[in-house]
Amino acid sequence: MLGLFKKKNTIPEFNFEKIGIDMHSHILPGIDDGAPTVRESIMMINRFKDLGFKKLIATPHIMSDYYRNTPDTINKALDQVREELQKQNISIPIEAAAEYYLDETFESKIDKGNLMTMGNGYLLFELSYINYPNNLKEIIQKINDKGYKPILAHPERYPYLYGSIENFYKIREFGCYFQMNTISLTGYYGKPAQKAAQDLVDHMMVDFIGSDMHHLKHADALHQALSTEKLKFLFEEGCLQNEMLK
Ligand SMILES: [Fe+2]
Repeated sequence: MLGLFKKKNTIPEFNFEKIGIDMHSHILPGIDDGAPTVRESIMMINRFKDLGFKKLIATPHIMSDYYRNTPDTINKALDQVREELQKQNISIPIEAAAEYYLDETFESKIDKGNLMTMGNGYLLFELSYINYPNNLKEIIQKINDKGYKPILAHPERYPYLYGSIENFYKIREFGCYFQMNTISLTGYYGKPAQKAAQDLVDHMMVDFIGSDMHHLKHADALHQALSTEKLKFLFEEGCLQNEMLK
């Protein structure tokens, strides 16, 4: 009889519990193109919980042209979310790092240090969607030389890398990890990105997976990704390192 009154478990049978940590999202309020207010932040965080996540690392954009975030703006937004979580009695650890855009200011930021990292010095960075950055090798080298561990965000989303798997191998040889957007596997960003994501899985090149969640449509796609064979393969056979960010 007691079972009748039990709260219905909303966690799907196959979920993200095994991965546990989401390490790429835009859930901090009002500082980039993700959650506009703390209300949306909480809605997204609740969806993460329903999907089985145990810890979140928010990664607001740092871009000189659009989002001039600093550790200060990011930590203030993080405090706001943590306060609201406490107020609403929602329990999930949340930390913040950043998603750095490789623009003309990135190199000097690396030189200065004080970068927003996750785990033991992992640095998430992204590239232009339009042009291959000619200084990519040097930048990755510099990040490593400074003692950080570079993670390239969503390599499957850069069209200029399509056509040959060698393009991806080459970048990894420069000395960086790859983070795939889980929802790329559903075709959310279109067929070419989906194919590139599938190829990365097949070639065991996915080191981290992340939601890159900006809004609730991404949460729906994340749920949908749980039905893809490639994600199941990644969970069972892949070499995902999300746990390193505990
Ligand atoms: Fe992102």
